[in-house]
Amino acid sequence: MPRKKRRRNEAVRLAPHEVDGMRTVGRFAAGLLKKVAKIIEPGITTEDIDQLVHEETEKRGAISAPLGYPQGSAHPFPKHCCTSVNHVVCHGIPSPRHVLRDGDIINVDVTPIIDGFHGDTSRTFIVGDADPEVRRLVDDTYESMRLGIAQVRPGAYVGDIGHAIQVFAEGRGHSVVRQFAGHGIGTIFHGPPTISHVGKRGTGERLEPGMTFTVEPMINMGDWRCQILSDHWTVVTIDQSLSAQFEHTVTVTDDGVEILTLAEGDTFDLSTE
Ligand code: MF3
Ligand code: CO
Ligand code: CO
Repeated sequence: MPRKKRRRNEAVRLAPHEVDGMRTVGRFAAGLLKKVAKIIEPGITTEDIDQLVHEETEKRGAISAPLGYPQGSAHPFPKHCCTSVNHVVCHGIPSPRHVLRDGDIINVDVTPIIDGFHGDTSRTFIVGDADPEVRRLVDDTYESMRLGIAQVRPGAYVGDIGHAIQVFAEGRGHSVVRQFAGHGIGTIFHGPPTISHVGKRGTGERLEPGMTFTVEPMINMGDWRCQILSDHWTVVTIDQSLSAQFEHTVTVTDDGVEILTLAEGDTFDLSTE
C-alpha cells in the first residue's frame, strides 16, 4: 500500500484512536504543570523546574519534546521545558543562575511525548505576591485563551479564534504577540494549521472534527513586538514590558471542542461571555 502522505500545509487531523493517544499524553502534561505549581516560590531556580520536569517525564517513560528541538538544528533547545520570566515572551531557557523573586511571573511550557503523541501546555504562575496590575495581566491572558478555545467547533473559522483573543486582550488595554502562534500537533510537534492569536471573524481555514492544535496567546502589557536574544531562543518584548501566556492542546469534536491538556478532575468553562 502506498504510504499515506500528509500534504504540505494540510492540517493535522487525527483519527479517534489517535485522539486517545493525545488524551493520555495531554493528561500527563497537565499533571506535570500541577507538580510544577507546587514548587514555585521565591528562591527556587528555573533549573529546579527543569529538573522536576525531567525527573517526572523520565519516571513515566515519556520524552521531553523541547530537548534537542528541532532535530538537526545548529542551536537545538537545551532543556526539558521553557521557563519565561517577566518580560520574556516565550522559549526562556532554564538556568541554575536564574533565581525566582517575589512578584515575578513565570510561564512554564511543557511538551511530553508518549507513544509518539505530543501534549503541549503552559501556564503563567505568580511567584509569591504580585501587584494588582500584574495579576490582572495574568488573569486576562488566561481569559483570552479561554475565549479563543470557546470558538472552536466544526464549521468555525481559524480567524474566529484570533478575533476573540484580540478583541478581549486589546479591550483590556494589552497587546497580542504576532510573531508566534498556535500550531497543529499530534505525532509532530509543530504542524499546520497556524493558529494566529489575532484575526478577523469568518476568515481562514474552516475547522473539522479531528483537527488538533494548540491555542497559546502571548499577551503583553506594552508593545506587542518582540526580539530573540543571542542565545537563539529567548524571546523578549522590545520595550521590556511584562508578557504572560497560557496554552492548551485541543481537538475539534463532532459538535464542539475537547481540551486534551486538562488534569484529572479539572474543568474548563466554554461560555463565550
Ligand atoms: N512548547 C512550545 C510551543 O508551545 C515550543 C517550545 S520549542 C522549544 O510551541 F524548543 F523551545 F522547546
Ligand atoms: Co508549548
Ligand atoms: Co505550542
